[in-house]
Amino acid sequence: MPAIPRYRFPNNFTWGAATSAYQIEGAWQEDGKGESIWDLFSHNPGKIMNGETGNVSCNHYHYYREDVSHMARMGLNAYRFSVSWPRVFPEGKSKPNPRGLDFYRRLVEELHQNNIQPVITLHHWDLPQSLQEKYNGWASRDTAMYFGEYSAYMFENLECENPLWITINEPWVFAFMGHAFGLHAPGVVDMETAINAAHHLLLAHGQAVTAFRDLSSGEGQIGIALDLSQVHPASNSDADINTARRLDGIKNRFFLDPVLQGNYPADIWDFYSDHFKMPEVKPADMKLISRSIDFLGINNYTRHLVQAGSAEDDFIGNIINPPEKEYTEMGWEVYPPGIYELLTRITEEYGKMPLYVTENGAAFYDEFDAEGNINDEARINFLRDYIKQCRHALEEGADLRGYFVWSLLDNFEWSYGYSKRFGLIYVDFLTEKRVWKKSAYWYQNVIANNGI
Ligand code: FCB
Repeated sequence: MPAIPRYRFPNNFTWGAATSAYQIEGAWQEDGKGESIWDLFSHNPGKIMNGETGNVSCNHYHYYREDVSHMARMGLNAYRFSVSWPRVFPEGKSKPNPRGLDFYRRLVEELHQNNIQPVITLHHWDLPQSLQEKYNGWASRDTAMYFGEYSAYMFENLECENPLWITINEPWVFAFMGHAFGLHAPGVVDMETAINAAHHLLLAHGQAVTAFRDLSSGEGQIGIALDLSQVHPASNSDADINTARRLDGIKNRFFLDPVLQGNYPADIWDFYSDHFKMPEVKPADMKLISRSIDFLGINNYTRHLVQAGSAEDDFIGNIINPPEKEYTEMGWEVYPPGIYELLTRITEEYGKMPLYVTENGAAFYDEFDAEGNINDEARINFLRDYIKQCRHALEEGADLRGYFVWSLLDNFEWSYGYSKRFGLIYVDFLTEKRVWKKSAYWYQNVIANNGI
């Protein structure tokens, strides 16, 4: 008889794991796939640690059956993956590539056969390079329109039972890491472009929700995945408190407010306007962006402890990492109460709505012991503590419907290449062998007991 968990979850709670196309698929040139901005960026020397690329990665494109069998054995109720836009539209628009779509058909079929609900992200950063070249990518409104067309095509052609669709993954990270700081594709360093990209990504989200409402047969639900982190001031000084409020606005409210309330937060809009030329917001934009969604996806890893910067234009202040705290391999502070704070805060400030934790997890250094096992206790502790805080948020009234570990597999961690392992399952990138870490067995048990 299974043990009775102390932290039990509601009966229909969804336990899942997440990945994304560029990070796991490989097969970057197969079956008619077009080039993505991440193909180009990673092939550019000096952009990725150790010159690594996603050319092969976990080769999930060919190993998807095996990967789904791992999911089934783990007991996952749902699997979050993303569609590579240039696999389906090699040029980003007009002419679809049936072989690209076919891969996702086979994957979804395999998931259905194993009773695993598909949770499908439409854009997890791998924009078709052709749209970058012809239209300047997310710097232009055209890209949002083409995203709407691509989304509509997916809703019509990828038959799924009861899917959850996620329009855009983490518009803040994608817009700013890729267009302001140049650390991600397309490698642009220009704040104005980043702010434009943010607006156009939100527009694209609205286009996709609209297409879904127009086309949907009633199957499935649609939402967005925002990366949200609580921001705390490092001290009680007004300067630190104001900086924390601003960083919260830049990272969190600048995306939550438009999607859930139809407006940009005035403090951040005005602040940006003092320094940058702002994107054109057309009369219908905010209505489109705030079309009602069925759920909000939250990706959460850490919180930010922030101190006011000294320079006047130092608008995000200094994020500080006190030595007595615990950090993951990414240098992100382990802060489980942050997820509780977020879930309850969103419920209070924006109203009760279905929420999913669409990503949570940790990179730690993994090594094999003499018996060939990976005893990743640090990852287990991380997941356990965050999941307990999710349970606590449920008790306090947050309508949390599900939780997804990032990630099912070790994978290509963007500019860090393969140096950071987030997987429940270890991947040997030379042989493509998959090995369950102790955390995978642990998670299997959490699912079986529906709690901790
Ligand atoms: C998130 C991304 C995801 C992964 C994790 C670690 O920001 O959505 O692809 O890289 O971080």
